[in-house]
Amino acid sequence: MEKDIQKVLLTEKQIQAKVQEFAEILSEEYKDKDPIFVGVLKGVVIFFADVVRKVDIPCQIDFMCISSYGGTSTTGSIAVKKDLSADIEGRHVVILEDIYDTGNSLEFVYNHLMAKKPASLKICTLLDKPERRRPGVTLKPEYVGFTIPNEFVVGYGLDFNEHYRNLPYIGVLKPEVYEK
Ligand code: IMP
Ligand code: MG
Repeated sequence: MEKDIQKVLLTEKQIQAKVQEFAEILSEEYKDKDPIFVGVLKGVVIFFADVVRKVDIPCQIDFMCISSYGGTSTTGSIAVKKDLSADIEGRHVVILEDIYDTGNSLEFVYNHLMAKKPASLKICTLLDKPERRRPGVTLKPEYVGFTIPNEFVVGYGLDFNEHYRNLPYIGVLKPEVYEK
């Protein structure tokens, strides 16, 4: 695995410091609100588990799974593979995401959850890759961990062909890995 990584973009230490910072902010912001943290599978699982473990207020967790069909990320349509289990009407909800890329996924999830009439809905994303944003996507996540350049990254939940999710850091793959 390590041999496929061209460079480390964010070390485990940098990521964990950000996780701690988010957990403190969320614990303060949502105390007495019994929030529901929603994770979008699968990329977010590691980040999600790390953050919620450090949140020290009463809260619930839930998950959604979406899939995009056909074409490129800009033309493909998105479907819900697994919806929430919880009823979020009137509840304070925070979407946790691994990366805000074109924005198609987050926009879809945001609209999907807004239709369920939560009391509030905010977004916390570990990574933001603004150069890739599809024009017209206007979402502004309240909490952004790191803004990164337009490079394909893996690790800490993020995959290439379903691999590398278990790396504890975030890195850029060597080009020859794609070309294989
Ligand atoms: P979107 O383009 O913003 O809809 O992002 C869709 C999904 O693609 C994200 O939730 C990630 O799971 C995945 N993704 C986007 N950029 C990367 C990347 O650089 N590495 C790995 N996965 C990515
Ligand atoms: Mg994802």
